[in-house]
Amino acid sequence: MSASGKVHVQICMAMTADGKIASANRRITQFGSRADHERMMALREKADAILTGAGTLNAQPEIRLRANAKPKAPLRVIASGSGQVNPAHGVFGSTGAPVVVLSTERISRPRAKALREAAHTLKICGVNAIDFPTALDWLHNDWGVKRIVCEGGGRLNDSLLRAGVVDEVHLTICPLILGGREAPTISDGVGFSTLEDAAQFRLHTRKLVGEEMFLVYRRAANA
Ligand SMILES: NC(=O)c1ccc[n+]([C@@H]2O[C@H](COP(=O)([O-])OP(=O)(O)OC[C@H]3O[C@@H](n4cnc5c(N)ncnc54)[C@H](OP(=O)(O)O)[C@@H]3O)[C@@H](O)[C@H]2O)c1
Repeated sequence: MSASGKVHVQICMAMTADGKIASANRRITQFGSRADHERMMALREKADAILTGAGTLNAQPEIRLRANAKPKAPLRVIASGSGQVNPAHGVFGSTGAPVVVLSTERISRPRAKALREAAHTLKICGVNAIDFPTALDWLHNDWGVKRIVCEGGGRLNDSLLRAGVVDEVHLTICPLILGGREAPTISDGVGFSTLEDAAQFRLHTRKLVGEEMFLVYRRAANA
């Protein structure tokens, strides 16, 4: 939840049996089954907004939002502290949902200008790093967001987890091993250095679907 407790935050990720979310060379990015894809779509269906990190967006230049049959398509939110997102990316030319970019004072003027023109809104929410509790409160107050699903990647997840705003983690464990020390995992970046500080969750549900394990973790009550 955000600092004010108004936004329910879900992380949705597919990982290999060795905890990777892509290969070390970043060429393999999708390995979940159709059922895994449907699970992501079901979360999107209930969400008011979809949050994606700049790294994930830049790794998928072909992403385009489809016109959505829902009366109100989820807001598309991109996190990029430096603004290193291509303003010509397909996500900006899509119909169906407004796109907002969360950034910081680190963004250069030319990048800010280009993203202001490409996106509906460029919101500065921090000096060096996006302050996610503040950003989530802004999404709630200005866009009516009550539920947001974060679709990665690992560095964005790390920021959300360290900010203490994650309510649920929906994890699909897929039956393959990609290996590679440099391969991204569901939470990269800085991480936690003590057990006491680690993000604490409780296993809420587990379901075997074909050869994939679908897990849902909920924030521990004392977290
Ligand atoms: N298997 C799956 O379910 C799944 C899902 C999603 C992604 N992926 C894979 O994950 C990989 C991408 O992960 P990634 O970790 O490299 O990138 P990422 O998490 O998608 O994006 C990282 C970027 O987000 C911005 N960011 C995150 N936290 C921030 C903060 N607190 N303040 C400011 N900016 C912040 C920064 O942008 P700036 O650098 O612009 O400042 C950072 O470089 C790709 O290979 C993708 O295919 C897999």
